[in-house]
Amino acid sequence: MPRRVLTLAGIAVLATACAGDSPTQSVTPTPTTPVTTPTTNTDAITVASANAPQAAMVGVPFRYDASKGGAVFTDPRKTGLTYTVTFAGASNGLSATGCEIGGTPVAPGLQSVTVTARDTTGRTASQQFTVVVFSADLTAPTLPVSSFAYSDARVPLPRHFTQNAAGGGGSPVGADNTPATNAITDAGATLGRVLFYDRRLSLNDGVSCASCHQQAFAFSDTAVLSTGFQGGRTGRHSMGLANARFYNGGRFFWDERAASLEAQVLQPIQDVTEMGLTLEQLQTKLSLTAYYPALFEAAFGSREITTDRVARALSQYVRALTSTDSKFDRAFGANGVPNFEGTFTAQELLGQQLYSGRAGCARCHGTNAHISDGVHNTGLDASITDAGAGNGRFKAPSLRNVEVRAPYMHDGRFRTLEQVVDFYDRGVQNNPGLDPRLRTPGGQPLRLNLSLQERDALVAFMKTFTDRTFLSDPRLASPFR
Ligand code: HEC
Ligand code: HEC
Repeated sequence: MPRRVLTLAGIAVLATACAGDSPTQSVTPTPTTPVTTPTTNTDAITVASANAPQAAMVGVPFRYDASKGGAVFTDPRKTGLTYTVTFAGASNGLSATGCEIGGTPVAPGLQSVTVTARDTTGRTASQQFTVVVFSADLTAPTLPVSSFAYSDARVPLPRHFTQNAAGGGGSPVGADNTPATNAITDAGATLGRVLFYDRRLSLNDGVSCASCHQQAFAFSDTAVLSTGFQGGRTGRHSMGLANARFYNGGRFFWDERAASLEAQVLQPIQDVTEMGLTLEQLQTKLSLTAYYPALFEAAFGSREITTDRVARALSQYVRALTSTDSKFDRAFGANGVPNFEGTFTAQELLGQQLYSGRAGCARCHGTNAHISDGVHNTGLDASITDAGAGNGRFKAPSLRNVEVRAPYMHDGRFRTLEQVVDFYDRGVQNNPGLDPRLRTPGGQPLRLNLSLQERDALVAFMKTFTDRTFLSDPRLASPFR
């Protein structure tokens, strides 16, 4: 077949006439927008049926006959149609001979392809569809035959999380941000777990949520700033996700810019640095896998893949990341009453007393889940460089497992818990927004005057928040082997 290669600004055009009598095969219409010209004429060429998105894989020869859609372009004047296939941008190892697309894709990503039909009088109609090129090293998830348990019914929160009792830090349930419309179900959180670990949620299959939120580091990252799908860096340090279910008002991110978890979880997917997909591209990619339709059906009753369902499933999984089995938790009896004296070392006990007493930590990192009560300006700097939620105020993640998830603060400035405590001891800087809780009655930044033993005791106490069960729980681990 003769083949002409033209180059228009940034578009490789590979043009040939298609075989005239392509079979009239019906294909499922897709949500792509058919473009027809001119629109006013009744004898215009129209797109009767469109090409569906196609899946390809890096390094694997790909063939697809785009006249499957082209065959159902209507040709009212019967002058005969010729077809052109064009690729947006670089063609990624693909080329077209007539309507036959072939070649071996070189890089993962989404390739936009346009088929244009033209009659001998010059009238045209086009249809655009996507070839998703998946990375070659992806696998399908391995899930247990009978689902892991995530729902409150099957994994009840311990008593000291659900009820207040004398001597403890109080229950966090008042700050539970689970909406009535999105309670955790086993199937919903299972789908959320697969989504969380699936690199297909990024444009080039390079990163998953778990790249920046790693279980071993309490779903945070050891890097000060995390690396996105194309090697770019995030603007702030990754947040630990343990006990994210509990936060008053239910806003998310260091600066609370997401109004709910359901709104938050779709943002990294669309972030140009983090994952780089549009929600439409996300839907296309997930629909081309063999396993998602069944997981959506199990979770939501039908195989339909919608971004609302993606958001709900990811949120269910994130809310299932409750950490309730640390040494601190084991100090509580089944009645929800703590026995710190019988559980802690003398040093941890001193730390516990300072934390909820003179050092004032529990005023902001409260309840038995050690969650923040809201946003605060902690006086990290004398002049505000990042306004956060306004006036230098930030949310803090729950301090559960804080030992394993250095570095600390929204900018990852502290490498150790000793540095954090030294900061609260004598490093708080005065600035107009400094929280009153970190000021003396006279308005000066608070100085705790901790002894070295007291500093180390506070650190030892925070290490009792480390929950090894949580950090290696197979229910929360990657299903991709
Ligand atoms: C490239 C790294 C990266 C990826 C990928 C990523 N995150 Fe994050 N995540 C971050 C950073 C950094 C923050 C804090 C950003 C900020 O507050 O400005 C964050 C914050 C969050 C928070 C807010 C926690 C809180 O308590 O307010 C949640 C929840 C979260 N991410 C979930 C996810 C989910 C779900 C995904 C996948 C869909 C994901 N993240 C993908 C880096 C990442
Ligand atoms: C006025 C409220 C307030 C008080 C009091 C307070 N904190 Fe914080 N803490 C915060 C906020 C807000 C952040 C997040 C600040 C940021 O990143 O800009 C934070 C961050 C932290 C972090 C790092 C968390 C992370 O994920 O990076 C640790 C650890 C910590 N605080 C421990 C303590 C200890 C120990 C005390 C007592 C000595 C204490 N805090 C007292 C509000 C407070």
